[in-house]
Amino acid sequence: MGAAAYFSPTIAFGAENLRWWQKNPVYQIYPKSFLDTNGSGTGDLQGIIKKLDYIKSLGACAIWLTPIYPSPMVDNGYDIANYTDIDPRFGNMDDFDELIAESRKRGIKIVMDLVFNHSSDQHSWFLESKSSKTNPKADWYIWRDEKTNWRGIFGGSAWEFCEERQQYYLHTFAKQQPDLNWENPEVRKALYDAANFWLDKGVGGFRIDAIVYIKKPSKIADGKPDMPDGMCSVHNMIANTPGILDFLHEFRREVFDGHDIFTVGEANSVKSEDLSKWVGKNGVFDMLFEFNHSNVMFNNGDEVWHHSKPIRLSELKKALSDSQKSTKNLWYPIYFENHDKPRSVNNFFVSGTDKKLAAKALAIVLFSLRGTPFIYQGEEIGLDNTKFDSISDYDDISSHGNYKLAREEGLSDKEAMKFVQKFSRDNARTPMQWNSEKNAGFTSGKAWLPVHSDFKACNVEIEEKNPDSVLNFYRKLSKLRNSSEILLNGEYEELYPENEEIYMFSRSLGEKKLIITVNFTTHDVKLPISGGKKVIGNYADEKNYLRATEAAIYEF
Ligand code: NOJ
Repeated sequence: MGAAAYFSPTIAFGAENLRWWQKNPVYQIYPKSFLDTNGSGTGDLQGIIKKLDYIKSLGACAIWLTPIYPSPMVDNGYDIANYTDIDPRFGNMDDFDELIAESRKRGIKIVMDLVFNHSSDQHSWFLESKSSKTNPKADWYIWRDEKTNWRGIFGGSAWEFCEERQQYYLHTFAKQQPDLNWENPEVRKALYDAANFWLDKGVGGFRIDAIVYIKKPSKIADGKPDMPDGMCSVHNMIANTPGILDFLHEFRREVFDGHDIFTVGEANSVKSEDLSKWVGKNGVFDMLFEFNHSNVMFNNGDEVWHHSKPIRLSELKKALSDSQKSTKNLWYPIYFENHDKPRSVNNFFVSGTDKKLAAKALAIVLFSLRGTPFIYQGEEIGLDNTKFDSISDYDDISSHGNYKLAREEGLSDKEAMKFVQKFSRDNARTPMQWNSEKNAGFTSGKAWLPVHSDFKACNVEIEEKNPDSVLNFYRKLSKLRNSSEILLNGEYEELYPENEEIYMFSRSLGEKKLIITVNFTTHDVKLPISGGKKVIGNYADEKNYLRATEAAIYEF
């Protein structure tokens, strides 16, 4: 096997029928932690504008922004107080228009996050709704005289009592995130109007939050307790309630149809065999984040951190393969990280793994599966998990919920903290590491969340200068995928699915074939193929076996 150039002439150009968002990766930004230009300690839109060329260097066709709307920030923007404005922490509408215009110049579209299952309890709709049982918005949220035994996703009851109305309201997430009542046509219209407002501004698409929860069962009743605290998980009670797709088809007709945009729904626990009802021509969205591989450490619907189990590679591979198979004639968003997950080099590899090799190995998978790669800020420089000593150092609301439940179930502070450190969403939310200067170049003020302690060793400036860095590896893979018809659109087939050490799959188109191999262990393993030409890998040289965490693409 001799090393080949990155752009093999045998890989033909093609895949003309693919849309713009299928050919290049999407870059996800968590604005609070990206780049602060005014010393407030919080990232802002001007910071994103400053880094557009950097994002372009990764080949990105779009930027997905997590919510930038006015918000009390109980859940960092996923509690929205006004759907058609910008939170002053991030800037104003002029900054947003400038971001759209500057991105457009570089061929990048801006994708907004629509959080339509719930609003903030400070949204004027909710303030009105809670004021009486007779106001015009009385029915805009889910109000009941009795509560059920449902447990909210961030812990505690999913119902909160409201003194003014002497009734309970439902909140799938935090109590400051009341669920909107989609059964009310006025609510649906108000939400569609908000989405259309952003389309008129020229956005290139939407990521639609927590969409599986919008439809509630017609009879809201107690469920079989499935949580140790005697409650039952709200997720199991309301996710994918029959009839949900009727709402979503209306959403599609009223908002998405007729625009050159892409949509990606966040749909925890939609089964891979059901994907065709959700995506593509006969579905609603272009792509769906369905969580099958990213929740492989949890048992069905139970995302409690201290109930997690070690990942079995065969299960992870099966989840990825099932999604690949069920989107064979559809499309898939490939991701290993986002703002809700720990860093992937910690999450998917055993401890003791070399982090840089791991980052490159997963990057190979990210760019070689069939679908659009989603890169989460910092993933492209191989950032790993942070570690705070005390629960009070964590900002993330779900870290607090998980810690509390762990303590209630008898874990010591030390035991509970181990799980928080492993799974906290703050792992992915520490400020972006731009250089070795104060606060990693993120802010001249006090960063809202402490910068990772390794920032002097791992940052964009250092990686720019090193041709072998994770960052430059991402750039090479992005170009390789964009110019490879097989990577763009070839068929996927998993090889050796029962092997617990390596992930191996092929992508093929006619006679042409690529084989992708990743060793998930920290020891040498046998390479069960021979004769291919190495296209790219995370080790410079080649052996006829795979070394620790070695990953490569071979051409046949
Ligand atoms: C999913 C978002 O990604 C997450 O950050 C948020 O906490 C919940 N939905 C609630 O909106």
